[in-house]
Amino acid sequence: MSGLTIRGLTVSFDGFVAVDGVDLDVPPGDLRFLIGPNGAGKTTLVDAVTGLVKATGSARFGETELLGREVHRIARLGVGRTFQTATVFEELSVLQNLDIAAGSGRSALGLLRRRRGVPDDVARALETIGLTGRLDDLAGTLAHGQKQWLEIGMLLVQDARLLLLDEPVAGMSHEERDATGELLHQIALERTVVVIEHDMDFLRRYARTVTVLHAGKVLSEGTVAEVQADQRVQEVYLGHSTSTEGAA
Ligand SMILES: Nc1ncnc2c1ncn2[C@@H]1O[C@H](COP(=O)(O)OP(=O)(O)OP(=O)(O)O)[C@@H](O)[C@H]1O
Ligand SMILES: [Mg+2]
Repeated sequence: MSGLTIRGLTVSFDGFVAVDGVDLDVPPGDLRFLIGPNGAGKTTLVDAVTGLVKATGSARFGETELLGREVHRIARLGVGRTFQTATVFEELSVLQNLDIAAGSGRSALGLLRRRRGVPDDVARALETIGLTGRLDDLAGTLAHGQKQWLEIGMLLVQDARLLLLDEPVAGMSHEERDATGELLHQIALERTVVVIEHDMDFLRRYARTVTVLHAGKVLSEGTVAEVQADQRVQEVYLGHSTSTEGAA
């Protein structure tokens, strides 16, 4: 397993510095939560690591520098991400969605062979995301949470080794959140996971380590308890009600 090592990561938009000299170490197999108020630079950080915006500094996955590479190259290196809004192909089946994702790294011959049945890696991903029973259903008919899981499944069949998930539980029911929390823990047994999340309740239950971004900079880092006890975090992010809970 490899980890993510970020040094001095900086992203500017027309002079506005959205990510400002961020250092971040996510060790192999970590399940890191990245939190911070709206506009803190969380999504931009992930965009920079995945090649969607230009950045300076360094972002290494294992030994490999990611900055300066094309988006598809970074994906091939095993870095996968999801977006704040789900991006599954609604008019295709669950299986077809996974097939397409898996196919991106495969030969034409491999794709032909796979017509004979559900390939092992796809079957495993279906099992992991709990959609084995839905493989022939159109993705558009899935519940909101299931679409998010399908998207994560697409990263699994691409064999992403670093998953960067942008607010995966937004809009989910309590049950869906819990299932997602379990899913993330299971995935982090074999892969490195970074989750952008706003929901403090979800964070308390499932985060291993937390990094707080504020105005493009790392404000605080540690366990959930450490971050919640940090006065600066309470001031900029958690607000009064949560800070009282955090201190309790
Ligand atoms: N393409 C862009 N051009 C100009 N400014 C941008 C661009 N993308 C993001 N920004 C600005 O950069 C800052 C960081 O945005 P970003 O989307 O990374 O925040 P975030 O932490 O993900 O917030 P949220 O919690 O709302 O998703 C914001 O002030 C945003 O307006
Ligand atoms: Mg965002």
